[in-house]
Amino acid sequence: MLNLQDPTLFRTENYIDGKWIAGSAGHIIVTNPANGDVIAKTTNSNAADATVAVEAAAVAFKSWSRTPAKERAKVMRKWYELILENTEDLARLMTTEQGKPLTEAIGEVNYGAAFIEFYAEECKRVMGATIPTVANDRRLQTYKQAIGVVGCITPWNFPNAMITRKAAPAIAAGCTVVIKPDAGTPLSALALCELAERAGIPAGVLNVVISSHSQAIGEVLTQHKKISKFTFTGSTAVGKILMAQCASTVKKISLELGGNAPYIVFDDADIGEAVTHCVATKFRNCGQTCVCTNRIFVQSSIAEEFTKRLKEAIAELKVADGFTDGAMIGPLINSAAVEKIDGLIADATQKGAEVLLGGGRHELGQGFYQPTLLANISQDMRIANEEIFGPVAAIQTFETESEVIERANDTVYGLAAYFFTRDIGRVMRVSEELEYGIVCSNSGVFSTEVAPFGGWKQSGIGSEGGQEGIADFYETKFHSMGGIDS
Ligand code: SIN
Repeated sequence: MLNLQDPTLFRTENYIDGKWIAGSAGHIIVTNPANGDVIAKTTNSNAADATVAVEAAAVAFKSWSRTPAKERAKVMRKWYELILENTEDLARLMTTEQGKPLTEAIGEVNYGAAFIEFYAEECKRVMGATIPTVANDRRLQTYKQAIGVVGCITPWNFPNAMITRKAAPAIAAGCTVVIKPDAGTPLSALALCELAERAGIPAGVLNVVISSHSQAIGEVLTQHKKISKFTFTGSTAVGKILMAQCASTVKKISLELGGNAPYIVFDDADIGEAVTHCVATKFRNCGQTCVCTNRIFVQSSIAEEFTKRLKEAIAELKVADGFTDGAMIGPLINSAAVEKIDGLIADATQKGAEVLLGGGRHELGQGFYQPTLLANISQDMRIANEEIFGPVAAIQTFETESEVIERANDTVYGLAAYFFTRDIGRVMRVSEELEYGIVCSNSGVFSTEVAPFGGWKQSGIGSEGGQEGIADFYETKFHSMGGIDS
């Protein structure tokens, strides 16, 4: 099924210090979520293997951090070009291990590569400052210096782009990285290493450790004293544990955690556009992104029409293996994800939700789920409070602007929020009042390498992408230079 044009992109061992090395903890069987087929037997690693990677990264940091930004940029640019040249193969690996439709996988490879391109350019423009002095015999300056070795833990839902969104700014800044990708989707990560090596990224700069022992590897990456910064994308619950672990060595941290995105449709919205974007943001990656629409709020006067049109649009979605022509919804990642969706729907219907479409497992079996539309959602239902992470759209209604803002903000999460209105005053008011790191008006599409992606409240710390996304990989040093007027 893999059928790669370049079979050497299929790697199964750790990439540490520029070498392909077996881990010390046996093997991991990687399966295709669409059919359960075994697609790879990769190495499995323990804490000692991760420690070896950290030591290698610490050695490599000494020379990489002193390599001029222009030279770092050159090899990164090459890496970016090689990824684009191998887009089809990288996408095939991703669809096979993660399940998303091939067209979405191609989109992710391009999205992931864009972070490498952007930060290769950006690292040449990171400036220190000269500060007006406070005394004539002194001069005051700041330098930006690479922070050191960076530990990264990345998720299965974007097996390529969540790696490059962390590794590209880090490596561009002169840092070295040790990455633990999700054990379910290691092949995309390893293929990226193969291409990085071909591009000339020096040994020890990029290290990937494959492991199903998340806790053990997490402890190394959050507590090893040679790691200066730790960055994680995943659930809020795990993020809190990792954050606490980082306290022992006072690591700088960036966390991209869960969301509970509101999608608000006011009665003056273009309903057709609101429906189209709702489908795009709700059902992308089978609903498995942190920024997927989670709570749909529709003003009651248009609720009937919006719901009818949304139902028609959802009914058009083609559920199929990601390699099937026209596939729009692939499988959920695993059986636990399927069970979670079953549980959310059961809880909602017991409490009065109405199933307008779908509502159960799909006839294709395995991880496939029917695209589902629920109405009559109320605040006491789990589905209104938890991240759904599946192909279920859940509608609530509201009466006024102030009411919906209060309800939209009534969550511990603060990652992404969407709203639709043609009133420019309301666009400004609502965008200012929503307590979210990303606010999207009249569109459901925002992901780009040039802008910051980050959550407020319990959705995270720091931002990835844009100028902000590289800033955290530098320390600022203040140099107070005396003896000028001797
Ligand atoms: C995520 O869900 O964590 C990433 C989504 C994106 O970058 O668009």
